[in-house]
Amino acid sequence: MSKLEEEIARRRTFAIISHPDAGKTTLTEKLLLYGGAIHLAGSVKARRAARHATSDWMEMEKERGISVTSSVLQFDYEGKRINLLDTPGHVDFSEDTYRTLIAADSAVMLLDNRRGVETQTRKLFDVCRRRRLPIFTFVNKCDRAGEDPLKLLDDVQEELGIDVYPMTWPILRGNDFLGVYDRQDGKILLFAKGEDHGQTRIAEEEAELGSDALRTLLGEQAHDRLAEEIELLDLAGADFDKDAFLRGEVTPAFFGSALTNFGVEPFLRSFLSLAPEPPPREAEERTVEPTEPSFSGFVFKIQANMDPRHRDRIAFVRICSGRFEGGMSVRHIRSGKPIRLSAPQQVMARSREAMEEAYAGDVVGIHDRGSLRVGDSLSENGDLEYAGIPRFSPEHFARVEVPDPLRRKHLDKGLRQLSEEGAAQVFYSEGLAGPAPIVGAVGQLQFDVLLHRLEHEYGVTASLERMPFRHARWVEGSEEAVRRVAQGFGRAQVSDARGRPMILFDSEWNLRNTVNDETDVVFHDVAP
Ligand code: G4P
Repeated sequence: MSKLEEEIARRRTFAIISHPDAGKTTLTEKLLLYGGAIHLAGSVKARRAARHATSDWMEMEKERGISVTSSVLQFDYEGKRINLLDTPGHVDFSEDTYRTLIAADSAVMLLDNRRGVETQTRKLFDVCRRRRLPIFTFVNKCDRAGEDPLKLLDDVQEELGIDVYPMTWPILRGNDFLGVYDRQDGKILLFAKGEDHGQTRIAEEEAELGSDALRTLLGEQAHDRLAEEIELLDLAGADFDKDAFLRGEVTPAFFGSALTNFGVEPFLRSFLSLAPEPPPREAEERTVEPTEPSFSGFVFKIQANMDPRHRDRIAFVRICSGRFEGGMSVRHIRSGKPIRLSAPQQVMARSREAMEEAYAGDVVGIHDRGSLRVGDSLSENGDLEYAGIPRFSPEHFARVEVPDPLRRKHLDKGLRQLSEEGAAQVFYSEGLAGPAPIVGAVGQLQFDVLLHRLEHEYGVTASLERMPFRHARWVEGSEEAVRRVAQGFGRAQVSDARGRPMILFDSEWNLRNTVNDETDVVFHDVAP
């Protein structure tokens, strides 16, 4: 194996998806702890403090500032180089999370043991499913009583329509979480409660099912219940099908507690043996092998500098093939121009040197002076274009109003650039005075950021008039059919920034009925 092949083969790039409060920050900290990257855990904690940011501007800025330094958490564990793509904790920035998932090769779905699948889990799961991303499930907070484990996994299976294969099983004595049964090697792992609230790794001890020691520890009743459950699982499940997992058809499930570290290490071990290395990626022209020597990648996120005196931005590039070197010159496919990739300081959580060299599977942050957009492809030979990043249907809409008509040009420019950056989506409705801009966002906080940036970066004082719509769909059909459908109650017709027709809906109910009833028009929830 060449050095390039070796480096790529040890990359594991993933993201954690969860509903707020399921414990993503805590689990991230623990993965870093087990990966030996304890120095990073501080930045994760700082993010947790900032996560509670409301619409208070200073808080938001702080949150963004911190997420710049921790957009990718990279650490080595047992010879593997792990890239944990960090996603915003705040639901209002979930569009960022959706896009980040495009850059990941697998995902960990984190569930609260009392709540199971929640709204945000489902949305993020849907994005993973669309990409057929392999998904791990980690049932968290098992240190306190929760839903019955069998019922919980049944619910996941039912609600998400994915097969669930328990890899570990919780060992409970009453409400006490003592350890897990590892189904892969049939071992029982008991954990010793730490005295330091999970600050350090915990000791695990092996035990045998049926042994006197285990009977004494659990008590007859709990022991027999465990034996029964294991028997039941073995009866129910065939062996774990790794290929089905890689196709996104079955999710291996783990039980644990990020807070106390219980079950984190068995999970990490399985993760390492199952998580895929960087796979080939589809470009318009052909399928690209990660081990192709020439560099290629795409921009999945742009982080603007909130300080208006520093206009430069950071573009996050997922490397799809080859090797990256700080300062290298590549071709920017959309403009056809060469572009020098200089890595800014402090983007990556790791040391400076780590940014000078990166391989397929890694994410690099590069300086951008405004020429890059989300979805742009970069390649050394200039001959590859990766499929664009899908635009996700916004859930909030507002008309943009500018009191000073002379600022309209600035407004248009600002909206165009901010939409290219992915800060919000822009639509136009046909008005008497020409197309009127409407902005759409997945989360409301995106609106606050938008107004602030329009004012500080483009000198436009705008206001937003909220519109009653909650859903948008791209539509295909004859002009007449689209117009007729859009005229229905609680709907409106707009076009997106690229002129593609869309219909807005005021409720889920309206959307569902329309999609069912109107067969002349095809509806898409991601831009076709
Ligand atoms: P998030 O990033 O997914 O939003 O969740 P975060 O890790 O911040 O965790 C949310 C809350 O759940 C925190 O409590 C955290 O301590 C708790 N938590 C996380 N993992 C576990 C676990 O395994 N068991 C239990 N019992 N709790 C867990 P908090 O009170 O909101 O914050 P804090 O005061 O503990 O920081």
